[in-house]
Amino acid sequence: MSVRVLHVTGARPNFPKASPVVHSLREHGVDQRLVHTGQHYDERMSEVFFRQLGLSEPDVNLGVGSGTHAVQTGAIMRGLERLLLHDPPRLVVVYGDVNSTLAGALVAAKLGIPFAHVEAGLRSFNRTMPEEINRLVTDRLADLLFATSPDAVAHLGSEGVPSERIHFVGNPMIDTLLANLDRFDVVRVRAALRLPERYLVATLHRPGNVDDAGDAAELTKAVHGAADQLPVVMPVHPRGRASLAAAGMFDHPRIQVVEPMGYVEFLSLVRGAAVVITDSGGVQEETTMLGIPCLTLRPDTERPVTITHGTNRLVDRAGLAAAVQAALETPRPTRSATPPLWDGRAGERIADVILDFL
Ligand code: UD1
Ligand code: UDP
Repeated sequence: MSVRVLHVTGARPNFPKASPVVHSLREHGVDQRLVHTGQHYDERMSEVFFRQLGLSEPDVNLGVGSGTHAVQTGAIMRGLERLLLHDPPRLVVVYGDVNSTLAGALVAAKLGIPFAHVEAGLRSFNRTMPEEINRLVTDRLADLLFATSPDAVAHLGSEGVPSERIHFVGNPMIDTLLANLDRFDVVRVRAALRLPERYLVATLHRPGNVDDAGDAAELTKAVHGAADQLPVVMPVHPRGRASLAAAGMFDHPRIQVVEPMGYVEFLSLVRGAAVVITDSGGVQEETTMLGIPCLTLRPDTERPVTITHGTNRLVDRAGLAAAVQAALETPRPTRSATPPLWDGRAGERIADVILDFL
């Protein structure tokens, strides 16, 4: 009998999003397969998530690795097409906004296989971001669109997506966070990294921040201004490793550079942070749920609920040091409202819609 649901994953942020959907479908006994495209392949960018999130090994790994957008997307498409032609599933599920998402969407759509997009409708309205292109194309083609926030539902509506395809289900990334909350051990991570009680965390990997030497130099100056105030732990994404090193980012005595961290260790670190500095999508959401002040070094965000309902603020490089100082001096508000439906049950809701569809 052919597989009923085939999940396409491949990059770090896909894994905590897919995990609750896979687990919920498993509880319903749905026959499913998980494909790893191989977009991310370092142990710390991939395997560690499978281990820590209780996901079984991928059924197939396409092993595409890194490349330009066309090379990487094309390689994933070729691998997926072969797989889907051989054994067409009833439904393909793609996650987020990475190249693996776009490739899965294009292949499924062209083979006439229905597909679902988890985290549909997010828009930064900034087409210089590769992710924005991936989001627009994926949502245009998707049969089931699972939205994490009301703004996402509104964007899809205004782009003409029929309302019966759109399902506001909450945020599966937050399901994973809530399911693992008891494992986030601040005392342990602080001891392991020899950190004082108050410290900052910084994660920076967007092309707009790290690819160009001029941007990397400005970013370095900004983060050094933060490190002058408190020690900074920086788990370094492989994309920015060389450019940030060349810009002198890691030369500040109070910046502790570490390898990409496992999910549990990373969220433990974030949970104990005084302020988080980031350009990550997922980290904006996780800090909102944990109530940790987040300064996002970007001109825009596709996740505005993290500002309206959370702890996120957009800052530019020139304003970072002052924003850190202000955040450190401002007493933390007692728990603000969390975004609607970020309640740990998105995976169940997605599974229910998929079961209906099947
Ligand atoms: C990708 C996503 C981005 C997401 C990020 C999450 C796209 C277009 N971008 O960006 O939206 O925020 O993942 O982490 O899909 N590399 C390694 N080891 C790995 C993976 C990558 O060394 O395991 C290095 C390679 O030099 C590679 C570079 O990182 O060229 C970039 O990897 P790539 O997958 O192209 O994009 P990301 O920047 O990781
Ligand atoms: N993350 C992690 N270790 C790290 C950095 C990130 O476990 O060192 C987790 C964290 O949960 C984050 C997710 O990986 O939300 C995705 O991160 P990334 O910033 O790579 O992707 P984005 O959300 O920007 O697409």
